[in-house]
Amino acid sequence: MNPDKNPEIKENVQSVRGMHDFLPEESADLIEIEQAARDVFSQFGYKEIRTPLVESLSLFERALGQTTDIVEKEMFVIKDQGDRLLCLRPEGTAGVVRAFLEHHLDQKMPLVKLFYIGPMFRAERPQAGRFRQFIQMGAEYFGNNSPFADAETINLAFALFEKMGMQSIEIQINNLGCENCRPKYQKELLNFLKKHENELCNDCQRRMIKNPFRALDCKTDGEKLQGAPKSLELLCDSCSAHHQRVVHFLEIMKVPYKIVPTLVRGLDYYTGTVFEIYPSGKTGSQDALAAGGRYDNLVQDLGGPATPAVGFAIGVERVLNFVSQNKPAVNEKAIFLALLGKNAEDIGVSIRQQLLNKDFRVGTAPDRSLKSQMRLADSLGVRFCVIIGDNEINENVMMLKDMKNKSQKKVPINELILTLEKEMGQQS
Ligand code: HAM
Repeated sequence: MNPDKNPEIKENVQSVRGMHDFLPEESADLIEIEQAARDVFSQFGYKEIRTPLVESLSLFERALGQTTDIVEKEMFVIKDQGDRLLCLRPEGTAGVVRAFLEHHLDQKMPLVKLFYIGPMFRAERPQAGRFRQFIQMGAEYFGNNSPFADAETINLAFALFEKMGMQSIEIQINNLGCENCRPKYQKELLNFLKKHENELCNDCQRRMIKNPFRALDCKTDGEKLQGAPKSLELLCDSCSAHHQRVVHFLEIMKVPYKIVPTLVRGLDYYTGTVFEIYPSGKTGSQDALAAGGRYDNLVQDLGGPATPAVGFAIGVERVLNFVSQNKPAVNEKAIFLALLGKNAEDIGVSIRQQLLNKDFRVGTAPDRSLKSQMRLADSLGVRFCVIIGDNEINENVMMLKDMKNKSQKKVPINELILTLEKEMGQQS
């Protein structure tokens, strides 16, 4: 078809609203963060699990709760050829619990500690820090109901942020109580909400009776309800003792925390300890870097044996946003090899190989002029540039240029690696 006659063909194809590309530079940051996270997960005894991006719709309806924002309005639902209702996973916990049950992981693993890194999908209104496809890295720990497991899980989240270079965070914690004490809290909260009914948004007015927690977590109403009853004041003895123990362990682990008695979560499966992590000084709903807590009834609610569990998930794009803002401009282990002429290329090939073997990242573009190669080295953010031309070859040296302070010196060819490692303070 002639594209001139069909305006649709001429239009540029755009990415889907709320979904974004990871261009090479962002991908490099992403890989770095994932690698750092994998190290910490493994240190804490977690093994990776990968579940499908598509699950049955009913899994999330049952796990997350019918009155949650996600189930009510944010699911990407698909009908397959057999008219079965499926959906793109909006979060990771439900799928991991499904896999835990389907594969009887409690019988196969001595300790069921699982982590995942992958995309999630929510049809939310896109804005800064809120996407329709976003990456979560999450951890789920099954079979341990002690407060130590709660503290260890929060400790893991803290360790991940430390390793990713984000020290300036605020960990908020609360306890929502159990089947025994939560109904009392829900009742008091409902009474409070009824008194403020006129100030609530339509969604909260409608959902208030079924689930008063939603109002505290609501993106519009949450802020207005600071005077609401506090769950911690209404906990039963057992939940109160559990909470005290969690806090006690966090103190010993030197994990900073802040108790926020109005903190609830936007998903229904939580019981007992809940927590959210924010960048220091920013607590808007699209600022949360991570969130989690206990969900002691979920395995049973999805048809399994009574199994306590605790976990959390980190929003990777939100972390990347901070990490890329605070990234050092110069890449210390990167070298640019500026080669001038055929002889230099011949020598350069073997030097490049030696540098790669020593884990340096090496950039080259011998087809360009010296000026253009230097400009490229600058824009790649390398710390050192190694220049080889006919003059250097005749003297059996190379010119080593420090791109930070612009000084340069001659280095004998066979001493290059040693000199670089010395200069970079990482002689091996
Ligand atoms: P969540 O609070 O819904 O919890 O999400 C966890 C984190 O994912 C948030 O704190 C945020 O950083 C990130 N996130 C959520 N929605 C978006 C979005 N639209 N765009 C960008 N980032 C987003 C859960 O998903 C639970 N499954 C966490 C959990 C695991 N609880 C126990 N185990």
